[in-house]
Amino acid sequence: MAAQETKEEEEVERIFKRYREQYFKSQPTDVLLITLPKSGTTWLKALIFSIVNRTRYDNSNHPLLTQSPHVCVPFLDVDLFCATPVPAIENMPSPRLFACHIPYTSLPESIISSGCRIVYICRNPKDVFTSLWHFSCKVRTSINDLPPLSLDDTFDLFCKGVSPFGPFWDHVLGYWKASLQWPNRVLFLNYEEMKKEHLVHVNRLADFLDHPFSLEEDKEGVVQEIIRLCSFENLRNLEVNKTGRTLIGGANQNSVVIENSVFFREGKVGDSENLLTAQMNDLLDQIMKEKLDDSHFSF
Ligand code: A3P
Repeated sequence: MAAQETKEEEEVERIFKRYREQYFKSQPTDVLLITLPKSGTTWLKALIFSIVNRTRYDNSNHPLLTQSPHVCVPFLDVDLFCATPVPAIENMPSPRLFACHIPYTSLPESIISSGCRIVYICRNPKDVFTSLWHFSCKVRTSINDLPPLSLDDTFDLFCKGVSPFGPFWDHVLGYWKASLQWPNRVLFLNYEEMKKEHLVHVNRLADFLDHPFSLEEDKEGVVQEIIRLCSFENLRNLEVNKTGRTLIGGANQNSVVIENSVFFREGKVGDSENLLTAQMNDLLDQIMKEKLDDSHFSF
């Protein structure tokens, strides 16, 4: 049964990959933010959008003040590919900014061959799991009117590699290896390090995006202003993110309206301590060690 399911999943993935390839022709100037859900997508969408568009907007007209970061940077899969009709994205102004959760091996061929920039952010698996569990429970109860997920069952599946967009370790390793091979094309960021040293990593991000901060901007505090604008505290307290809603899934009968506030929960490092038991903690440590050891990648 498991083998049959795997075969079916592989077939579905092949169909999706063909569809993505048919639809999406990447341009060398594109910027693609790729993450596993709950790794900091919302934060990075806001940062990338603000860095790239910093000369177009100021405090009086910045889109992030009135729109969710998920509107400013759409998801390729859910917002664009799934919409009916599929929106024309060829003429979007350059650089086109997109996000997705697609594993490295399933990326459309043109993303690899165009040489566009990929920004990847990873986060400690325990916090990703914790955030994902809270998010899924919230979405299930508020949108689908379903009971919350069992923590034990969901944890068990996560440990077996059954989670959205594939096993945690395969997703992270795929992009980590790509970043070692093509450092100018794939920037690998880490949520915990970004939380610790905003300035260093936001500067790294701007350099990578080919929008480095000038000395003058440094003096004027432009970097600090972007960090402040995109901070958890600031975004979470904006009216649009407190009470607003966003259509996820494009114009399509399967799309859902989601409360923007679900993307802003705690925004902390180490919140898994409040959810996982010591046994779960040790088990996840052990699994990560086994899965990541050969690669010399660690958290
Ligand atoms: P928690 O559930 O641990 O609070 P994603 O955007 O990939 O869906 O990830 C959501 C997680 O990122 C949530 O984590 C959320 O609170 C946190 N987050 C959202 N905006 C953030 C920001 N500006 N800075 C830091 N973390 C943020």
